[in-house]
Formats: sequence, C-alpha cells, structure tokens
Amino acid sequence: MSTVTVEAAQGPALGDDLEAAPPGSFLVTLIIRRYIPEIDDEPRWQDFDVRVLPTDRILDALHKIKWEQDGSLTFRRSCAHGICGSDAMRINGRNRLACKTLIKDLDPSKPIYVEAIKGLPLEKDLVVDMEPFFESYRQIQPFLIASSAPPEGRERIQNAVARERFDDTTKCILCAACTSSCPVFWTDGQYFGPAAIVNAHRFIFDDRDEGSKVRLDILNDKEGVWRCRTTFNCSEACPRGIEVTKAIQEVKQALLTHRS
Ligand code: SF4
Ligand code: FES
Repeated sequence: MSTVTVEAAQGPALGDDLEAAPPGSFLVTLIIRRYIPEIDDEPRWQDFDVRVLPTDRILDALHKIKWEQDGSLTFRRSCAHGICGSDAMRINGRNRLACKTLIKDLDPSKPIYVEAIKGLPLEKDLVVDMEPFFESYRQIQPFLIASSAPPEGRERIQNAVARERFDDTTKCILCAACTSSCPVFWTDGQYFGPAAIVNAHRFIFDDRDEGSKVRLDILNDKEGVWRCRTTFNCSEACPRGIEVTKAIQEVKQALLTHRS
C-alpha cells in the first residue's frame, strides 16, 4: 500500500473555493471515460481536476465532480460502504469498488483513470447493463433447494464444520468485478463467468441443499466451468477477498468426482 505526502493546498479547480480548501487537501486529475449515447458516437476521455483529501475515496471524488462540475456524470452507487456491490469500475486499469478505493492508495501525483467495467454493454459513462450478468446468476438457481420443509418452527440445523465448507462464497455482493475482469468473458460473452460459479459453489457445498446435481449439470455446459483458464484475474479483482479461482476449481473437482 503506497502512502503519499500531502502538500499544502494547490491552485483552485473549476468550482473550487480556494478559501474553503480544507487543510491537507490537494488537486487530483481524474480522467474519466465518458459516453452519453444521445451525443457521443464513441466513448471519449474527459479530464476533471478535483480537490480531495488523501483519505477521500474515488467515490467521493466522483460525487464532487457530479455535484460541483458536471451533473451529467453518471455512475451507480448505493451503500457507499462496500456492501451493495453497485459501484464496481475500472480504476487505473483494475476492477475495484469506488467506495473502497482511497485516493492515497493510488498515486495522486499522476492522473487517475476511471472507466466502466468491461464485457457488459455500456449504457452511459460508468454504467453498464448488468442484465447478462444477473441472467447467468439466475440460471445457476441461487437459492436453497430442499424437498422437505424445515422442522415446525425451527431452522435447518447445520454444524459449524459443514457451514465452514462454503463460508468464503457466502461473502459475494454480486458486484461483477470478477466476471468483468475475466478475459474469457470479454471475448465470449456466453461464459457463465466467475460470479455465477461462486454463487453456485455456495449452494453446491451446502449439505442442507438438494440441488447440487442440477447446478453441476448446468455448469458442465460448454459455457460452464470448463471455460475457465485459471488466470486468477477474478480472485485479484474481488473486493471481498473471495478465493474465486479456488471456488471454480472446487466446482470442477466436484464435477470430476460427482461428489459435492
Ligand atoms: S465473487 Fe467477489 S468480485 Fe465476484 S461478484 Fe462476488 S464479490 Fe464481486
Ligand atoms: S456503493 Fe455499495 S459497494 Fe460501493
């Protein structure tokens, strides 16, 4: 993790009140890949100088640009705390959540490049159409499948060891950072993608679930787990630290052994 020495406040940016510049603030340049379908034939890069604190996040800088410089800048966010998964974007060429990326952890002496995640249809600026991503997610049936009801007034009991088996993959927030960092997904568009497999894993290895065979059959498809080339992009991209490639490997292994 890099740290920066923050110089005294520099010159004012557009929409910046120098007298109100907070101590320790400085100017950083964000170069954002813009696309407004009503006016742009192709995406274009646009520079914005914005005053930030080192502890500000990329999301804070985007808010400042939108509120103070250009209200047309479009991006998704909801929780602003790494939980909802709505603000995955490419920041300096790497998929990250804007709300979890601190300015000081980048190199703010250089411009910071921000663009939409890849492999999904671009709708506007940093917003992509997530429907193909969620369609793959729905196909793996991401819910408990059980033929019997739980005991009257009780939950389905599971011991700690059995729960641990799929603990990692319960952490997914469906941000699509993994799937949209996968070269197979970029070139193909049909591949289920890492996130769908992670969420299948969460149920395949749950000993209360009876749908493992169904999900394994789905992922045995030519667009399923065998498309994975183990590039580890997905694991590196995951903001929740999920071992995505390992989960994919475990699903492959389950298919080979027909055990879950
Ligand atoms: S596995 Fe990680 S990167 Fe992929 S969708 Fe879930 S939280 Fe996001
Ligand atoms: S805004 Fe919810 S995860 Fe970033």
